[in-house]
This record gives sequence, C-alpha cells and structure tokens, in this order.
Amino acid sequence: MCTRTSRCCWFGGPGWKRVLCYRCVCFLYALIVLGIVLLPAPVESGCRRLVRKPCEAICVRRTPDDVSNAGRRLPIGMNPTIFAAERGNVSLPLSASATGWTCELRIVVIMPANTSVEASLPRVQPVLEKAEGYIRREGIIPADVAIRWIPFDDRCEQARATVMAMDGTGSDYCGHLILGPSCDFALAPVARIARYIYNDGIPVITGAGYTFDFEEPKTHCENEFHMLIRTGLVSFKRMAFFMIELIRHFNWNRVVYFYERQSYYNVAGPQTGHLLMNTMAEFFRHENITYSPFSTDSARTNLTESLKEKVGLSYASPVKTTLLV
Ligand SMILES: *[C@@H]1O[C@H](CO)[C@@H](O)[C@H](O)[C@H]1NC(C)=O
Ligand SMILES: *[C@@H]1O[C@H](CO)[C@@H](O)[C@H](O)[C@H]1NC(C)=O
Ligand SMILES: *[C@@H]1O[C@H](CO)[C@@H](O)[C@H](O)[C@H]1NC(C)=O
Ligand SMILES: *[C@@H]1O[C@H](CO)[C@@H](O)[C@H](O)[C@H]1NC(C)=O
Repeated sequence: MCTRTSRCCWFGGPGWKRVLCYRCVCFLYALIVLGIVLLPAPVESGCRRLVRKPCEAICVRRTPDDVSNAGRRLPIGMNPTIFAAERGNVSLPLSASATGWTCELRIVVIMPANTSVEASLPRVQPVLEKAEGYIRREGIIPADVAIRWIPFDDRCEQARATVMAMDGTGSDYCGHLILGPSCDFALAPVARIARYIYNDGIPVITGAGYTFDFEEPKTHCENEFHMLIRTGLVSFKRMAFFMIELIRHFNWNRVVYFYERQSYYNVAGPQTGHLLMNTMAEFFRHENITYSPFSTDSARTNLTESLKEKVGLSYASPVKTTLLV
C-alpha cells in the first residue's frame, strides 16, 4: 500500500499536486516511528555509584561564613559571568568573584620530566600555555573559568603514574581531567582506573596509547579503557596493517622479527620496541603469518651470527635462476 506511486515530488515538478505521495508519507511515518523508538535513553554515566565530592564541580560557591553553602554547584544554565564582578585575572586559580562563585577547571598533567621522551613535561608545558592562550582568545570556555594545570612527573613508571592519578584526583587537587601519561606502560593503569574515579569517571586524554589494547572498543564500562581518549594519529596497529599489506603484496608467509626491546624510548617510553612487536604479532597471528620474534638485546653472539642462525636458509624462496646461464 505504501508504493502506489513510484515517483515522489515534493514541490513543483510534474506531479506537484501529489505533494506527499504515498511512498513519502510512508517514509516520513517510518522516520517518526524510528525517532520514537530510538529516542536516547536517559544518560547514565559512571561505572560505580559514588557520592559526588563538592570539589568535583567546576563552579563552587565559597562563602567563608556560610559553610553549609560551600561547594554548591552553579545552577545548570546559569552563566557564571553574571556573578562575576571583576574580570581579568582569570587564569589565576580561585579568582573569587564578588558573589563568591569561583570556577576552576583543574587539569592533571601526568608526564615524565625526562626529555628523552618526546611528550615530556618541559616540552609539553609550553604547548599547553599556547593552547590556553588560544582557548582564551577564542572564548572556547567562559572567561571566568580559570584553568589550573597540575603537573606530575611519573618517570614513565606504572606505579608512579597510578599514584599520581590518585593524588591528582584526591581532595588536595581534585582534578577534572587527566592529560597523559605519554608512556604506554604508565598509561595502562591510569586509563584502567579512570572509570572508577569519581561518580562519573575522569577522562584521560593522551596522544600516546600506541599498543593495540588501547584501540579496542571503549563504549561500555566493561571495556578496559572506558575513559581513555586517544588523540594521536599513529598506532602500532596501523603499522602492523602496513606490514601485512607489504607481506601480502610479496606473497610472503613467514617472518623473522628482529627487534630491540628498549628501542624508540622517545616515542612511548620503556619497551616501545617490545610493544610494537607484540602488536604486530597479534595481527600476524590473525592473518596466519608465521612469525618468529627475536630480540637482539637477548642475543648472546653478535648480530651477524644471530642472522645466520635464525634466518639461515629456512627463509629462502624459490628464485628463478635465469641469470645463471
Ligand atoms: C594576575 O595576577 C598576577 C599575580 O597577582 C599579576 O601579576 C597579573 O598582573 C594579573 N593579571 C591581570 C591580567 O590582572
Ligand atoms: C632520561 O632517560 C634516559 C633513558 O632512559 C636516561 O638514560 C637518562 O639518564 C634520563 N635522564 C634523567 C635526567 O633522568
Ligand atoms: C587462518 O587459518 C584458519 C585455519 O586454518 C582459517 O580458518 C582462517 O580463515 C585463516 N585466516 C586468514 C586470514 O587467512
Ligand atoms: C660477528 O660474527 C662475524 C661472523 O661470524 C665475524 O666476522 C665478526 O668479527 C663478529 N663480530 C664481532 C664484533 O665479534
């Protein structure tokens, strides 16, 4: 019944009198029904229920005499600027306005201080200053919301990074957002616990996270890295796919993978080479490519010997010997 006419004309055109032909009506009807069915369910964020700490709010009212009022959230939809009597020094933490509303976005930056890593505090901080300048110029967040950077040096260590994430979100700092860590090994525990910090979890934004685990789906609480946001373009998975394309192109099916465990420390900290190898191994396995990893720093003999030993003649392919006439 829905397909009485094959042509559908909205306005004008040959059949303009039948402005809404049956098919269109049916289409619209389907859209409306779909719209009702797919209405977004009430947003339920957070992976565990917790009492919200007053400091979790970006805007709080600090009135020294009226303690019961302290930590009240700014009513939704109310612009903090109308409360602010004084303008100007907005980058200063806790620039109290006349009415006592203070808005502060606290950003915890967890990165190594050692400049051997590209994304280290001394290198990234000037960039963050630039970013803040841009945010202010473009008015991306309201001018009355101060930004406070809280840097931590994790030395690319898992345990340190975890403790820094907890310090940065404890009652002393009460950060709203974590930037970093930039080393994959340090990122993993921070990105894992982020979903259980605060009632709603805390976002972890990093340009790192190259290993394939960080690229797994993250939409549900059950996903390991639920609160992680990777902003980088490069990942080891992409590199593995590139290698696989190459291997497929030449119809190879066996690979010896020589790698240095600690190579490319500057990219993702300790064991970057090992993590890249792990990711490649994962996808080579999916593609039925036989691979044999060989870490050069575990080599007893010299590399020439290792090459002879590992590769030898086992990886030779039948080559036409037309040149040897
Ligand atoms: C902000 O406060 C600092 C320290 O009190 C001061 O040196 C600076 O001039 C102030 N900036 C503005 C724009 O008021
Ligand atoms: C920085 O890291 C590199 C590589 O691990 C190390 O050799 C160097 O000593 C470190 N520098 C400092 C100041 O800790
Ligand atoms: C790999 O091998 C398995 C079992 O032999 C096969 O089912 C699968 O399709 C293969 N995958 C690819 C990508 O060739
Ligand atoms: C490594 O092995 C090759 C071949 O066996 C040999 O010629 C070379 O001298 C060795 N190099 C070192 C540094 O021992």
